[in-house]
Amino acid sequence: MPRVLITGGAGFIGSHYAHHALRTHPDWRVTVLDKLTYAGNPANLQDLEGNPRYRFVRGDIASRQDVERAVEGGVDLIFNFAAETHVDRSIGDPEGFIRTDIYGTYALLETARARGVKVFVQISTDEVYGSVPRGRSLETDALMPTNPYSASKAAADRLAYSYFATYGLPVFISRASNNYGPCQYPEKVIPLFVTNALEDKPLPLYGDGQNVRDWLYVTDHCEAIDVMLERGAPGEVYNIGGGNERRNLEITEHILDRLGKPRTLLRYVQDRPGHDRRYALDCSKIGRLGWAPRVVFEKGLEETIAWYAANRAWWQPIKTGEYLEYYRKHYKI
Ligand code: NAD
Ligand code: DAU
Repeated sequence: MPRVLITGGAGFIGSHYAHHALRTHPDWRVTVLDKLTYAGNPANLQDLEGNPRYRFVRGDIASRQDVERAVEGGVDLIFNFAAETHVDRSIGDPEGFIRTDIYGTYALLETARARGVKVFVQISTDEVYGSVPRGRSLETDALMPTNPYSASKAAADRLAYSYFATYGLPVFISRASNNYGPCQYPEKVIPLFVTNALEDKPLPLYGDGQNVRDWLYVTDHCEAIDVMLERGAPGEVYNIGGGNERRNLEITEHILDRLGKPRTLLRYVQDRPGHDRRYALDCSKIGRLGWAPRVVFEKGLEETIAWYAANRAWWQPIKTGEYLEYYRKHYKI
């Protein structure tokens, strides 16, 4: 029975992957290691309690002791989803990003090396390429990250690669585009705008609303990770994109229209400093392994909106306390 460590499994993508892993790999024994920061939510994993192939360890990837506690008894595969992930927060206060995203990845890599793990998956991001005005980023393109989040992720991405090149650790690196779907913390644009619209609050659109992101449904991302492992090669990087480039304004209007809310809820606000204009991935490398996204954007967005409308009990408790403090300070509205 392969012993699998999933870090950041209480967050958005990590929790989807933990469910996916237990469902599609009946022989895996899964440990989730998560610090439960503001973005980690035990509710995302609640239904796994009692599953004999699953256990949860609360701990910090940047603490070697915590990591060792999580892999007590051995580990074969490590999936590193844990990170500080919100660009705006990284601009306000970068330190936690350096600590978790860079040092935390280092601590995990050291444990992986000492224990001779068979697979180490580093979940990187398309943001490491920086803004792409034209064309699409290839895995071999230069990394030009522009904010403390993406710079930290780029450092972790290359650090993971260095453990392959130097020590022969079997490292796989994925660079995914913007994920969306249920259970995403409502600071990211889609859940923020959907939940604000449901509460008849303004939707704060940065700059001119013309920035472009490529949207990937979270379950498509989970499937791509498995394809990368099963048919890809260690030491390689794989772009994973949804093929759904959309301007932020289009998405904002779509959300308002779908919920029957007036366009007057759209509020243009001051732009994010250094706001990358466009991300776009060339995904032919993982395409050659036989992966393609399955969820059509309009359908995925429809389902995501419906999920937030039906699951107020998941997000309403989040949008209180520290969240509101951050929100008021950040948006000044
Ligand atoms: P998230 O913010 O929803 O969840 C992050 C999780 O990591 C939380 O459960 C949090 O408690 C945990 N965590 C944070 N610091 C930790 C630490 N020091 N030790 C242990 N756990 C810690 O993030 P997400 O959106 O699910 O992103 C998951 C991963 O995917 C990240 O590595 C991110 O960079 C990457 N990624 C995200 C996207 C996206 O669109 N969301 C796209 C590409 C790549
Ligand atoms: O591209 C992958 C990345 O996608 C991941 O690596 C990051 O972890 C994830 O947070 C996400 O980063 P973005 O900065 O693209 O996501 P965010 O949801 O913060 O913003 C998406 C777009 O929406 C971006 O152009 C900024 C804009 N935006 C965002 C917020 C929060 C707004 O216009 N208003 C907002 O309030």
